[in-house]
Amino acid sequence: MVTKEQIARINELARKKKTSGLTQAETEEQKKLRNAYVAAFKSNLKAQLDNIELVDRKPESEYTEAEKKHVANLSQKLKEEYQDKEKSVTEAGNPRKPTGEAGKEMIHRMNESHFDLTGWALSFMHFHEDDHILDIGCGGGSALKRMAEQIKTGHLTGVDYSPVSVKASKELNKTAVETEKMDIIEASVSDLPFEDQVFNKIITVESYYFWPNLEEDMKEVFRVLKPGGQFMLVAEIYQHDGLNARALENIKKYELRNLDIAEFEALFIESGFKETAIHLKDGEDWICVEGIK
Ligand SMILES: C[S@@+](CC[C@H](N)C(=O)[O-])C[C@H]1O[C@@H](n2cnc3c(N)ncnc32)[C@H](O)[C@@H]1O
Repeated sequence: MVTKEQIARINELARKKKTSGLTQAETEEQKKLRNAYVAAFKSNLKAQLDNIELVDRKPESEYTEAEKKHVANLSQKLKEEYQDKEKSVTEAGNPRKPTGEAGKEMIHRMNESHFDLTGWALSFMHFHEDDHILDIGCGGGSALKRMAEQIKTGHLTGVDYSPVSVKASKELNKTAVETEKMDIIEASVSDLPFEDQVFNKIITVESYYFWPNLEEDMKEVFRVLKPGGQFMLVAEIYQHDGLNARALENIKKYELRNLDIAEFEALFIESGFKETAIHLKDGEDWICVEGIK
């Protein structure tokens, strides 16, 4: 064991050696103290290694019922801890319109927390290398980045009415923006700054809940979509029996629009889509509503 005083003396001697040099006695003292320090460090490390229990991991199929329960409890606890962290970041960042430093942090985290949802939804898009794609409410720009990997001669556009989101999306997609493969524009879904029938694919992930006038905004989406084009509305919450308590709390807190399946279908048909399909994810509250113009 090396005391605090001894460590302070080691540092003092090291400083003196650099500045004015050490006497013979001080050199001897420094050597002794350093040896004592190394010995203490080694014995501490050995004690730690001795305490490590090595366990052979057996295949999950051989777990006892008690072990399965233990693992399930641990996973649930980790999931809840992660969700609690997400919750406080989301509260500070304003998901309706990300603002300030907290908004920046929130959309960075959403790039991760929406990763699986987005990947699942993108599996319903049939990409072509010359697609012209629009992402509405693009947030941190992760979906744009993933879609850009699928496109060669085509083009991507992101819109978001939050300057913080626009900046973050541009940063994440710097090369694509610089090479003009992608544009990211500050605009609201209610007034999209595009001619009619420009895009053959449009996606919106976790954004429709906040649109100011969903029915009118859908018409605006429809307007900029090409005939035969595909629109996908993706959300991790939709109205149905058994919606979890956390989702219900968020709906209330953030005043989210929350449609059920029949309402989505009616919305898409009333907006003009000639074909619709609803995709639901097993074990989650995820929904991807697909409309073909
Ligand atoms: C919860 S974030 C989701 C961001 C991103 N799509 C994702 O999945 O991580 C919602 C985004 O929608 C944007 N948004 C909300 N209402 C909008 C509107 N009326 N027009 C454009 N963007 C909007 C917000 O600014 C925010 O960036």
